[in-house]
Amino acid sequence: MEDQLWADVDGYVNTLLIREDETLLDAIRASAQAGLPPIHVSPAQGKFLHLIARLQGAREVLEIGTLGGYSTIWLARALPPGGRLVTLEADPRHAEVARKNLERAQVSSSVDLRVGLAEDLLRALAAERRPPFDLVFIDADKAGIPEYFTWSLRMSRRGAAIIVDNVVRKGSVLDAASTDPGVLGVRRFNELLATERRVSATTVQTVGAKGYDGFTLAVVVGE
Ligand code: SAH
Ligand code: DHB
Ligand code: MG
Repeated sequence: MEDQLWADVDGYVNTLLIREDETLLDAIRASAQAGLPPIHVSPAQGKFLHLIARLQGAREVLEIGTLGGYSTIWLARALPPGGRLVTLEADPRHAEVARKNLERAQVSSSVDLRVGLAEDLLRALAAERRPPFDLVFIDADKAGIPEYFTWSLRMSRRGAAIIVDNVVRKGSVLDAASTDPGVLGVRRFNELLATERRVSATTVQTVGAKGYDGFTLAVVVGE
């Protein structure tokens, strides 16, 4: 019941404020057609990421977990000329769908899509000579969040924003006895955050077309 109401309000917001264009709708359609799971961010969340990237004036963006590239398109569209987005995806089938979606959205020239396990790709990325990231969006497997966050922090400038998706998971984050690797990952991430003096963070719970969940925003305030 409530879930339907949340979805309806998201629909109302989408109609008035988000107005996804055909390119974004195509990306969702192509992803569904290829059998990808419908776990992309909602339109309102996608636009939220886009606006955060603009507020941040982000030129160097890192995304962990591409899927079909829906959130990637929202983020890439916020880049200034010369801005770059690196996005990491483990599943070659997902990456292939994403590549076509990014091409259709005409953002391929600013997006560096890398296929492999995030843990390996992050190590390689950290060894490259490149400017630090201004914004990171962590949205891959939830068990990996602590490790992805640690690498992200290492590669981000002071003032950078690190956003982590799916950190509430219908409240399951409270279950200290959980053996779910995702819940364990989120809980270990929170423990890391609690003692990490280089970031200032908050978590905002969300409801909407994607149900009850939440995201964490961490800003790098020290080195
Ligand atoms: N950000 C996307 C949704 C990502 S879904 C959007 O909102 O549009 C999570 C993605 O992370 C899936 O495509 C999954 O294949 C990928 N993934 C899971 N484990 C991974 C890992 N260890 N390394 C890289 N990607 C991973
Ligand atoms: C899942 C992953 C996501 O990134 C998400 O937004 C929702 C669900 C999942 O793995 O189930
Ligand atoms: Mg997610």
